[in-house]
Amino acid sequence: MAKPVENSTASAQAKTVIEGRDVGKTFGGGAVIALEGANFTVAEGSFVSLVGPSGCGKSTLLRLIAGLIDRTSGSLTVHGRDITGPHTDVGMMFQRATLLEWRTAIENVLLPIEIQRSVTSADKARAAELLAMVGLKDFAFSFPSQLSGGMQQRVALARLLQTGADILLMDEPFGALDEFTRERLNLELMRIVSEVGATTLFVTHNILEAIFLADEVMVMTPRPGRLARMVHVPFARPRTPELTLTPEFNALVAEVRDILGTH
Ligand SMILES: Nc1ncnc2c1ncn2[C@@H]1O[C@H](COP(=O)(O)OP(=O)(O)O)[C@@H](O)[C@H]1O
Ligand SMILES: [Mg+2]
Repeated sequence: MAKPVENSTASAQAKTVIEGRDVGKTFGGGAVIALEGANFTVAEGSFVSLVGPSGCGKSTLLRLIAGLIDRTSGSLTVHGRDITGPHTDVGMMFQRATLLEWRTAIENVLLPIEIQRSVTSADKARAAELLAMVGLKDFAFSFPSQLSGGMQQRVALARLLQTGADILLMDEPFGALDEFTRERLNLELMRIVSEVGATTLFVTHNILEAIFLADEVMVMTPRPGRLARMVHVPFARPRTPELTLTPEFNALVAEVRDILGTH
C-alpha cells in the first residue's frame, strides 16, 4: 500500500543509509523550485526506484545526495553524516557512459582509482573481476568504439563498482538503449547489486521497470518536485520477468499510475 509523505524503506531493523528531512532545492535565487519538502529514508542494501515526469526533481535529488549541488533547505545525511559537498560514499552513473575513447575497457574501469592514487595489481585483478561480473570478460582490452551502447554501459557499471562506493546513484542508466538490451541489463543489474550488497537509487521513466527492480518506489509528482509516495514492493527475489504478468504486479502498476495521474 502507498503511504503518505513520511516513510521508511524496507524493514524496521535495516539500517538507514540516506535520510532526507524537508529537503528543498531552488535555482535562480528561488525562481525555480526543483524539489520541495522531500522526506525519505533509504535502508541499507535496498533498491529504490525513482519515477515521475520530466522536471519533477529526480536528477536534482540524486545530485543533492551526491553532494554535487547544495540544498536550499532541510537536512540530508548519508551514513548519518551531513552532506556538505562531494563525497566518496556514493558513485553515479548516467544515461551516457562517458568513457574515454582512447582507453580500453579495463583502463576506463581503473580510471577512478588512478585519479586518486597509483593502481596496484590488486586493483587490476578487481577490475578484471568486475568486467567478468558485467559480462565483459573477453572485452577488457577493447576500446569503447568497438563496443555497443549496452556494452559501454556495462563498462560504466564496472567502473562505478570499482570505486567501492556502497551507494549507487543511477540516473536513467539504460534509458538510451533499446528495449531488449535494457531488459537484459536490468536483470543483470539486480543480480550484481545484490552480489555486491550495494544500496541503489535508480531513476527511470518506466513504471514497470521501476517496480520490477525495486524494494521501494519513490513516486514523485511535478511542480514543485516532491516525493508524493513511497510504494513498497513486496515481491520475493530473485524475480523473473513472469512476475510482470501477475495480477499482484499489475495492481501495483495501477497504484503507481494512480499517484502519478497517468491512467
Ligand atoms: N542547474 C539548474 N538551473 C536551473 N534550473 C534547473 C537546474 N537543474 C534543474 N533545474 C530545474 O529543476 C527542475 C527539476 O529538474 P530535474 O531534477 O532535472 O528533473 P528530472 O530529473 O526529474 O527530469 C526542472 O524544472 C529543471 O528545469
Ligand atoms: Mg533527470
